[in-house]
Amino acid sequence: MEIRIATADDWPGIWPFLREIVAAGETYTWPRDVDETQARQMWLVTPPGRTVVAVDTDGTVLGSAKLTPNQLGPGAHVANASFMVAPSAAGRGIGRALGEHVLGLARADGYRAMQFNAVVAVNTRAVALWRSLGFEVVGRIPEGFRHAVDGYVDLLVMYRRL
Ligand SMILES: CC(C)(COP(=O)(O)OP(=O)(O)OC[C@H]1O[C@@H](n2cnc3c(N)ncnc32)[C@H](O)[C@@H]1OP(=O)(O)O)[C@@H](O)C(=O)NCCC(=O)NCCS
Repeated sequence: MEIRIATADDWPGIWPFLREIVAAGETYTWPRDVDETQARQMWLVTPPGRTVVAVDTDGTVLGSAKLTPNQLGPGAHVANASFMVAPSAAGRGIGRALGEHVLGLARADGYRAMQFNAVVAVNTRAVALWRSLGFEVVGRIPEGFRHAVDGYVDLLVMYRRL
């Protein structure tokens, strides 16, 4: 598995699992019926943002992540990042590898910290992964997420210095 900067050619490999994850309505604050044009625009970010892909030896895209400033101007020294691993490739360490890679990219880009604005509290796999990568919960939005299965659940703000 290799992690590298995404190109426009990677989009057809990202879109099927991105659509599946967003449509499930369990982890992302995106419209569940997001169309491909809007999704492409939201995921393949422009500089200073970066999008990366984790690819198998045969070129299959297994996961992807994006790194952007969390705010503009005087808030732009804090990074934000988002991660998606193809459900068929989950539990194989790809999320962790993407997380470590993106933390390294953020440091190299000069960010001072990284913040996740909307981690669904019942997304136990993600919360455990981010904690193990040094993030702590610094805020909780009560019932900030309408989960497709669990109903109204909390959103967590998670943060770590770089
Ligand atoms: C969250 C996500 C990125 C994790 O990716 P992944 O490749 O499946 O994760 P990994 O295989 O690297 O496992 C990472 C950690 O998850 C946790 N984990 C793995 N399987 C788990 C399970 N079945 N239940 C609970 N936690 C689990 C473990 O803490 C694991 O750490 P370890 O390396 O010490 O075993 C991926 O599941 C995903 O894309 N989910 C949908 C979108 C999403 O939730 N994105 C994050 C939004 S904040």
